[in-house]
Amino acid sequence: IKMYIVLEGIDGSGKTTQCQLLSESLKNMGYDVEIVVEPTQSEIGKLIRKQLQDDTSTTDINQQKLSLLFAADRLTLKHKIQNSTDKIILSDRSYYSSIAYQNSDSIDPKWIEIINKYAPKPDLTILFDVDEDVAIERCDETEVFEKLDFLRKTRKNYLRLLEENSEMIKIDSTGSIDDVKYEVLKLLSDKLDL
Ligand code: TYD
Repeated sequence: IKMYIVLEGIDGSGKTTQCQLLSESLKNMGYDVEIVVEPTQSEIGKLIRKQLQDDTSTTDINQQKLSLLFAADRLTLKHKIQNSTDKIILSDRSYYSSIAYQNSDSIDPKWIEIINKYAPKPDLTILFDVDEDVAIERCDETEVFEKLDFLRKTRKNYLRLLEENSEMIKIDSTGSIDDVKYEVLKLLSDKLDL
């Protein structure tokens, strides 16, 4: 079996924890699993992390530059994904993060789509959806009001993407880690016949 599954969600949605748990479960079932994370460990990925740390301004130009870097970074994974055989690749974030996060009046979503035209296409995208009030409780956050507003906007973008893309499936991640893990496994056995 060869599969590329992307996990998406706002900060505090639990996607990174669930990514690890899903990987363990699938390995126990006998599958070969590899986790990839965006931004990646490539030189472009490192540049992105540095940018995100050093320059937190969400100016138009900054977001436009970041969009291009994220798109380029994504392509560094393409070879691995295309050439894998008999492996499940789980990705912590991908293209939909660009649409949900690099979202401002100065960026046409169509442009994000265009620069991501050759990005690897997931077989399935799981959106871990949780209310922003619950998500913020799980984040280590000091600037609560600003963050809450940001989480709300990002979540709204994700939920819009969910409506527009049938390949994306929502999992309610309000419950306990174990409950959500069970939901994910159920989804995979339904969808993918694992
Ligand atoms: P995240 O998984 O939240 O990292 P961490 O575990 O360090 O919290 O992702 C890093 C940040 O990158 C996150 O704020 C979302 C952002 N991001 C984008 O803005 N656009 C993208 O295309 C991607 C892949 C990530």
